[in-house]
Amino acid sequence: MILCQLTDLHVRPPGRLSNTVVDTNALTARAFQAVAAMTPRPDIVVITGDLTECGLAAEYAELRELLRVLAMPVFVIPGNHDRRENLQAGLADLPHVAGGLAFLHYTVDEYPVRLVMLDTLVPGHGHGELCPERLAFLEAALAAEPQKPTIVAMHHPPFLCGIEHMDRINLREAAEFTAIIARHRQVARIICGHHHRPINAPLAHAIASIAPSVAHQVELALSPGAPANFILEPPGYQLHCWQDGQLVSHTGVFGRYDGPFPFITDPDYPGKAA
Ligand SMILES: [Fe+2]
Ligand SMILES: [Fe+2]
Repeated sequence: MILCQLTDLHVRPPGRLSNTVVDTNALTARAFQAVAAMTPRPDIVVITGDLTECGLAAEYAELRELLRVLAMPVFVIPGNHDRRENLQAGLADLPHVAGGLAFLHYTVDEYPVRLVMLDTLVPGHGHGELCPERLAFLEAALAAEPQKPTIVAMHHPPFLCGIEHMDRINLREAAEFTAIIARHRQVARIICGHHHRPINAPLAHAIASIAPSVAHQVELALSPGAPANFILEPPGYQLHCWQDGQLVSHTGVFGRYDGPFPFITDPDYPGKAA
């Protein structure tokens, strides 16, 4: 089973840019086309929040159009740039999105790896929360299938990464979240977005990881007090592959590059030619 994780699309109304310079719609269209052409084809796509820049109905309508190139099921959760009600209305035909529930969280049970999709959105704020109701959902969802390998997906990372301005807007209830994960050994991975960079860290017995953005990246700035900047490094994605009873994850980048080229072993190579 191959899960393609995309995140932080920041789609805009047609003709408008993100942060005045990033053509997020074009970048999202390019990403979707690349995923549609992947061989082998991912079984599902998971988009871990910040689907749009401002949560506008026009942005979800644009995203709905862009999604048409993807033939596989697409599962989404909101980020801080989304508006829950507009997302639920604009993407109502995506699985589990419709229904007008208080939170857009759900489980996906029909694949070899189970997904627990969390909603960490706090309307009007950049940081993420798992209030008692959402923590109870997570606990109950994991208790329901203790034997099945599971990925938990959420927008806000539940760990500090050292990029200060992003750490200030991460998940507030990291301790409570980690305590729940620790009780459920079937959780293999926690996949996140929000930080617009590929980052991973241990979390209880599992690995927590952040995928790069489909659009702009956050500058890798680990100095205390470093300003909040983004940078147009290559956008990317992650493929989480369930194979031989474990989850192996690859990070790829979108865009066109020279190659691929075959390896041609130099006669002076000290190893043995394959
Ligand atoms: Fe984002
Ligand atoms: Fe975000």
